[in-house]
Amino acid sequence: MQEDLERVLFNEQTILARLDELAAQISDDYRRHELTVIAVLNGSLMFMADLLRRIPLPLKLDCLSVASYHGRTETSGEVIFRSTTADPSFGGQVAPPDVKGRDVLLLDDILDSGNTLAAIGDKLQTVQPRSVRVCVLLRKKKPRARPVNADYVGFDIEDEFVVGYGLDFDERYRNLPCIGVLRKELIASGWP
Ligand code: IMP
Ligand code: MG
Repeated sequence: MQEDLERVLFNEQTILARLDELAAQISDDYRRHELTVIAVLNGSLMFMADLLRRIPLPLKLDCLSVASYHGRTETSGEVIFRSTTADPSFGGQVAPPDVKGRDVLLLDDILDSGNTLAAIGDKLQTVQPRSVRVCVLLRKKKPRARPVNADYVGFDIEDEFVVGYGLDFDERYRNLPCIGVLRKELIASGWP
């Protein structure tokens, strides 16, 4: 897998060192609050597991699965929520987690167009949380289709397609321990 990378941006050690800092900041900010973490699967799996083990606070964890109609490297504006505990009575859609009056921290792998996190944010507001903050491992430097304010950011990166440490291309490379830029010809040609 590693040979499919044009270059490595962050190795495992660099990622974990940054998570130490992020976790310290989050722990400090939420010391007096009861935190509810909502992780967006599948991309944030590794990030969630490594970050949350560094936060020594009582917290609740919920996971959302979101399908956005997209090409292989771009998301569209349309976002569909999925859940293993779907409540079909919620207007034909999956009900958002019950976070009324709670302090929510949304975790996602990467802030790209902003469509996904903006849609999740809108949906969460309907159940009246006390607060919602956003934490992403990566944030691309680019104009966003929808504005999203990320309160905690692991790394800012250029507008390139990256994989590894949870991030995929066609569901592959999620298990790479590092984050790197995928070779352009692989994106262009698709899979053999
Ligand atoms: P957004 O809705 O465009 O902000 O992006 C949402 C999702 O697109 C992210 O959670 C990722 O799953 C995926 N994504 C965006 N950029 C990349 C990338 O560079 N590599 C892999 N996945 C990406
Ligand atoms: Mg993806």
